[in-house]
Parts: sequence; structure tokens; C-alpha cells
Amino acid sequence: MSHGPLPAPLTTRSAGPLTGTIRVPGDKSISHRSLMFGALAVGRTTVSGLLESEDVLATADAMRAVGAKIERQEDGLYVVDGIGLGSLLEPDHVIDFGNAGTGVRLTMGIIGTHDIAATFVGDASLSGRPMGRVLDPLRDMGTSVVARNGDRLPASIRGAKQPLPLTYRVPMPSAQVKSAVLLAGLNAPGITTVIEPIATRDHTEKMLTGFGADISVTLNEAGERVIKLKGQPELKPQDVEVPGDPSSAAFPIVAALIVPGSDVTIENVLLNEHRTGLIKTLIEMGGDIQIVNKRNSGGEELGDIKVKSSQLKGITVPPKRAPSMIDEYPVLAVAAAFAQGDTHMPGLDELRVKESDRLAAVARGLEANGIPCVEGEDSLTVTGGANQIGGGTVVTHLDHRIAMAFMVLGMAAHNPVTADDGAVIATSFPTFTSLFSGLGADIQKSASEAA
Ligand code: S3P
Repeated sequence: MSHGPLPAPLTTRSAGPLTGTIRVPGDKSISHRSLMFGALAVGRTTVSGLLESEDVLATADAMRAVGAKIERQEDGLYVVDGIGLGSLLEPDHVIDFGNAGTGVRLTMGIIGTHDIAATFVGDASLSGRPMGRVLDPLRDMGTSVVARNGDRLPASIRGAKQPLPLTYRVPMPSAQVKSAVLLAGLNAPGITTVIEPIATRDHTEKMLTGFGADISVTLNEAGERVIKLKGQPELKPQDVEVPGDPSSAAFPIVAALIVPGSDVTIENVLLNEHRTGLIKTLIEMGGDIQIVNKRNSGGEELGDIKVKSSQLKGITVPPKRAPSMIDEYPVLAVAAAFAQGDTHMPGLDELRVKESDRLAAVARGLEANGIPCVEGEDSLTVTGGANQIGGGTVVTHLDHRIAMAFMVLGMAAHNPVTADDGAVIATSFPTFTSLFSGLGADIQKSASEAA
């Protein structure tokens, strides 16, 4: 589940306007969940538009390992024959999640209240990320855990024989933690309650409702989301249509804004309010972004996004917006490099524990390309308008979004930009290079690789 032992450097350079109409691959969060919930339902779930990336395919393998049958038809439709909540089988091999934080954390939640044992491993990036945020509440529900340093992969868990429902206040804004507790609560008797002081993406709540779970969301007096799930439902199979991933759309959106003369439409993008912070921010910065053809599908709002190149201006991004654009800060920092004045991004502590320490990785990448910035403990400030942008090589640290953000930088920079490893992009956006080439970008493997 890795992209091979050798890094594959990738370089972009400016090559005129980006123009055209594209579709980005399916949403990663919904793709993971559709396979998991399909596995927990009794009967046949179908998934169209599944993101076929390394992360999601790792989740498919994990669900097969616990007994689900998952097949890809020739037309790209995935068919999931669920084994049913409470009936999961014990995997007969170690589950390798590669780079996938969502995959491993949500699967730990699922297995944590089934009477089976499983061992999880991941790549160097995933092995460095904190798992205690999920393992601690699972311990409270009765899961036995043996993890490296108590909270890192490799980790082995033995699910609770008699799981306890839990009331849990999520200590950090994390949809993965919220979801892991709710998924554990699925196989616990009684009511599991998750209190979310800061709202995060709500795909688990919405999709579980669609799969027939009894789940309610209210606001308490303090304005916190209170999610209550009744355990041990019989989940019903669904036909899921996965919309385009707004976190992937972020790259062509920013590229079209900063490459002069560009005019790009991205069709069929998920517009869930917990995912559209970047669009809001870029519009505030002066970006010419229009949403057309808005519609509802499968309980989610979708639309087409039309973007024209624009002169951006620096702003302060409200920290409370961070959860709705948490994966988009690397590419926002790239947009900020072309804005007039400073763009200040506070409230970024969670960026330190992503696929890399994204705050540091972005700051080093900007510096390597002549862009002034200040890295605070939990903030980043970028000064736009430097007069010789580009020419640097960015260290990606096994982080797909660092690689893609800096590939976008190179499309608008004065000098080419290289990512030390482009292979990591396959984690979430395997068609990145071909889609951008189709829009007119010049994106190439480094000379030694191409040879
Ligand atoms: C995700 C939640 C976010 C996000 C990740 C996907 C999910 O992670 O960064 O890419 O699908 O629940 P956190 O929960 O760690 O913020």
C-alpha cells in the first residue's frame, strides 16, 4: 500500500492560461464511508463515482478483510455485499492503511466494538500521526489496545465483547474522531452521544441516516452539536453517488485564479457547508468564483464552480472557519502568494498532525520559492507579490496536498517549481496530472524520471 520505494519528482512551469471544463474525482470522505457503511449493512450497496485512490482502495481492502465482498464492475460501479453490523470476521492478516488517516481511524472505531482482533500498520507518515485521539475513547468503550508508544501505529486492538455506549466531548475539531466514536457506538447497546464544540464535516451523520441508523443532531445551550446514536440498528444497503471532492477541486480553483487569463469550470462538486470554507475565503479575497447549476443529490448540495483569473487581496481568515477548509490551507497559502498584501491564517493547530506537519511543510515550501511568510505556533502569514517566485524544490513528506499545492504554485510562478515526490498525489487525486494537462498546464516528471 505504498507508492514504491523511489520518489518521483514532478515539475510545473507557467504555460499560459488554463481553460476548460473538468470533473474532479469523487469525494474522499464520502468514498471511505460508502465502503464502510456498505460493509456494515445487510445486502448489496452500490457506489458510483467512488474515488479510486490509494487511500480509498486501502479501505476497500480493510472491509474485505472483515468479510465484506467488494467488486468493481467494468463500468466503474462498486458493488459492496455487506456482512452486517455485529457479524464482522476477524482479519487473517495485518491491515495496511498506507497513508490513510480517515481509513484507519474510522475502521478502528468499527472494529473496536466487535469481538474480533485486528492489527493496523501504515506508511511512515501515518505511523507518525496520533491515534490516541481515537484509541482513548475506544478504551472507554471496552476496546483493548496495544499501540506503539500507546498511541502510534503499528497498533493492535481487540474489540469489546460487551461494548459500552459512551458520551464523549470531542476535544479537538476532528470529524475522524467524532466518526470513530459514532461508528463504535453502532455496535454498542444503548445511546452513544458525541458532543462537538466546533462543528466539523457531517458526512458520517448524514450517511448513517441514509443507511437507516437512528441518529439525531441538536444544538445544546452552548451552541455545541450534540449527536445521539441508538446502537445496534440494522443498516440498510444504499445506492450511493459520490460527488466531486471539493478538497480536490481546490487545486484547479486556485490555479485558475492565479494563472492570468484562465477560465475553468469544475462540474459536480460537493458543496456541503462544512467543506466550502476555501470558496468563501477566496471570494472574500476578490476571486471571481461563481456557483451555478446548484442541486441536491443524496442529501447533499452539489454544483458547478466557474472560476476566472483574478487579482486577489490578502485578508485574515477567521479561525472558526478552519474546520470547513482544513485540507485547503496549503493551496490557500499558494493563492496568498499572488495576493496583494498579507494573508493571515490563524487557528491552524490541527495542521500540525495531518499527513505531514503541514504548517511547517508549507512554510518551508514557500521559503524555497522566494515567498515571504511567518510560521507561528498555530498560524501562517503569507506576504503576496514577491517579484521572483519559484525556482525551488519542495519537500513533500509523503503528503499529497503539499505536492499538489506546490504544483499549482509552479503554474503561475516566474520559475519552475519541483515537488520532490509526485507519486504521493495518488493518495487522493490520481488524475491530477492528466486533468491539469488537459487544461493547458505544463506538468512533467523530472528529467531523470522521464528518461
Ligand atoms: C476527514 C476529516 C479531516 C480531514 C480528512 C478527512 C474525514 O480530518 O482532514 O482529510 O473524512 O472525516 P480530521 O478529522 O483529522 O480533521
